[in-house]
Amino acid sequence: MLDIQNLSKVYETKTGTVTGVDNVSLTIAEGEVFGIVGYSGAGKSSLLRCINLLERPTSGSIVVNDRDITKLSTEELRKARLKIGMIFQHFHLISQKTVGDNIAFALKAARVPKGKRQERVKELLSMVGLSDKIDVYPSQLSGGQKQRVGIARALANNPSILLCDEATSALDPNTTLSILHLLKKINRELNITIVLITHEMDVVKEICDRMAVMQDGRVIEEGSVYDIFSNPKTALAQEFISSVVSFHVPDAILKEVKGSLVKVLFKGKVAGQGIISDTIAKYHVRGNFLHGTIEYIQDQPLGLFLMELNGEQANVEKAIAYMEERGAHVEVIDNVL
Ligand SMILES: Nc1ncnc2c1ncn2[C@@H]1O[C@H](COP(=O)(O)OP(=O)(O)OP(=O)(O)O)[C@@H](O)[C@H]1O
Ligand SMILES: [Mg+2]
Repeated sequence: MLDIQNLSKVYETKTGTVTGVDNVSLTIAEGEVFGIVGYSGAGKSSLLRCINLLERPTSGSIVVNDRDITKLSTEELRKARLKIGMIFQHFHLISQKTVGDNIAFALKAARVPKGKRQERVKELLSMVGLSDKIDVYPSQLSGGQKQRVGIARALANNPSILLCDEATSALDPNTTLSILHLLKKINRELNITIVLITHEMDVVKEICDRMAVMQDGRVIEEGSVYDIFSNPKTALAQEFISSVVSFHVPDAILKEVKGSLVKVLFKGKVAGQGIISDTIAKYHVRGNFLHGTIEYIQDQPLGLFLMELNGEQANVEKAIAYMEERGAHVEVIDNVL
């Protein structure tokens, strides 16, 4: 378990102090994939660097496997850090060393005897699907392959936590997906807790169990990815969600809306129960879809539809009440434009 309490990081600069992390408390369970989103400057990297003490927090505690790592001696900290792997947006591989030597270097730093390093390097490269690249230099690899090497290196010393700082931000969408699948596989097979920071909600949607939203150094919203996607509370979370689930309808179309405009949200199994068609048949209303999507978040459907309901007002009201009775969440939009 990773338990962060009241963590703050204040940077001293020539022109004054800058608060990178402002009193953040987060508890991340063992084996969880936890996403942290926020815009540039929100404090994501500062928080991540504090978690493995690349950066000394100004105050607060970070308990990893029952030990507060902010209180460790230098030697104890060196050992504790080996159990926290990290991968970066720009990979940070050593260009003069081969793929195999990049990974062996991490083993050397952890004082693994020379004779045992090669076997482990092979094992790690096989895990990330790059066995044939052991003698190649980083410049001969694609971005996705470089990140696989970064992952292999981060896993070299069997960490219990893997921190990912914008690990897929430099990659194209397909490569991003393959790296995310690899991270998920590592999480499942090795039971490694993953904390990843990103500004892409697609990344969070793809692999995270829970998430936090950061702004100005603070965590302003936290919860399961499904809950935040289905019911974002802060304006910032809503903004992030809208990048994945967009409901933009052109004004010209909205102007033509004559009936009641409703936003219907179905969670989980409810999404597949044909509620809309039942409602339309039962109350003799007509439904005109303006927008709609079913997103799958951790294999759970989340249905979102924007529709116009036409018919006698009393029937429209009954139809809305019926959909809610069946478990949908319905919001009537009064100001259409
Ligand atoms: N070494 C530093 N010295 C001074 N200020 C810093 C330092 N590192 C970060 N900051 C400041 O702390 C705040 C948070 O920065 P941080 O790098 O953590 O943001 P971020 O969320 O990772 O942004 P990005 O998405 O751009 O990577 C910013 O205001 C930044 O200027
Ligand atoms: Mg950053």
